[in-house]
Amino acid sequence: MDTESFICVEGNSSKQIIDDSRPDTTLSLVIPTFNEAENITPLIQQLYFVLTEKNISHELIVVDDDSPDKTWEVAKELTVEIPSLKVIRRIGSSGLATAVVCGWAHASGRFLGVIDGDGQHPPELLPDLLSKFDEEIDVVVASRHLPGGGVPNWSKMRQLLSKGAQALGVLLLPGTVGQVTDPMSGYFLVDRKVIANCDLQPVGYKILLEVLARGNANKVAEFPYYFQLRESGSSKVRAIHYLDYLRHLLRLRVDPLRSQALVRYFGVSFMALVIDAVFFFWIFDGLGWNLTRSALLSGEVGILFTILLLDLWTFAGRPSRNFIDRFRRLVGVQIALGVILLGRLVLINALITWSNLEALTVFLIVLIGTSPVGHLLGSRLTWRPARR
Ligand code: GDD
Ligand code: MN
Repeated sequence: MDTESFICVEGNSSKQIIDDSRPDTTLSLVIPTFNEAENITPLIQQLYFVLTEKNISHELIVVDDDSPDKTWEVAKELTVEIPSLKVIRRIGSSGLATAVVCGWAHASGRFLGVIDGDGQHPPELLPDLLSKFDEEIDVVVASRHLPGGGVPNWSKMRQLLSKGAQALGVLLLPGTVGQVTDPMSGYFLVDRKVIANCDLQPVGYKILLEVLARGNANKVAEFPYYFQLRESGSSKVRAIHYLDYLRHLLRLRVDPLRSQALVRYFGVSFMALVIDAVFFFWIFDGLGWNLTRSALLSGEVGILFTILLLDLWTFAGRPSRNFIDRFRRLVGVQIALGVILLGRLVLINALITWSNLEALTVFLIVLIGTSPVGHLLGSRLTWRPARR
């Protein structure tokens, strides 16, 4: 914790660890900036106004990467007028996400937050975001993708890229990215205890990913907001940031703890497939049951097997905070896989009617063909309350 209002940090020497001290300030809000000299003053003034009006004890921390337009200097001058303002000038390192971590490492608040420095995130939302915290909720994200939120006239291309990036994220890190409607949000608050002593090493822009993946979040709440137009200057997002994002996803993806659960997940799915097929073979071929009934029963056996093993083995190391959560997850899998099973029955019957393939062959083709769909759907549900 630092008391000076202006700090200059150089190279990689800056602190990056958030300690688990018992803070007396409520909110520490980091404002990462690069060439925001024109935007920073009105933003800081608004933030200060909103927070003091609501009597929220806070500090505002500008982390500027030595902007050529001297944003840090503009901000530094403001510290005379705004007592809760601190300014960090980082020399020799850059990157939005690492700037945020640097700011948090110098913060003294119970809740750590981030907001863009260009006015695109509405400051008046802060008290609402803060009010969402309770016993269970320890991360609150401002989301553009909830009813009541949105983005201005983004080009079709940027919308597509944004959607594509999110879909890829859900696929690679369902438990992390699938937890929120707006995983790309750069406007959120987190309880200090979630990331205290965590080794945060984000790449590029997406600090929320790192917090959700490496932190100990219990539950995440979201609040809708409308992404404002930029006051002045332009976005710093470049093609390279999409690559950074990919790199970041992959780095989180190969995390050993996470991979272990994933390997188990696919192991269970594969065993379920085999059990389903063997059981089908037995009742259809051996006992002479009819096709639909055999496929239905063997499918359900596969589903029950999946549910049982996911609970007892795959996710066994993961403390389920409450029974309802666990139950909901398993019912979710049953419903998702159950719907797929019904689709499978329709497909089997259609194929039998219109092709001259043998029943057993048809069953196997459909079983294997539809299982990826089940896992895309099922994985979203099962990984949702992902916790360490
Ligand atoms: N310190 C520092 N270092 N700040 C940076 C850097 C950097 O390398 N790059 C960008 N920033 C600052 C900008 O000055 C701005 O205050 C903020 O980070 C966001 O950068 P923009 O370039 O304006 O990003 P955007 O408008 O395209 O998208 C932002 O908003 C999205 C919606 O919430 C980003 O924050 C996205 O991550 C976010 O999803
Ligand atoms: Mn912006």
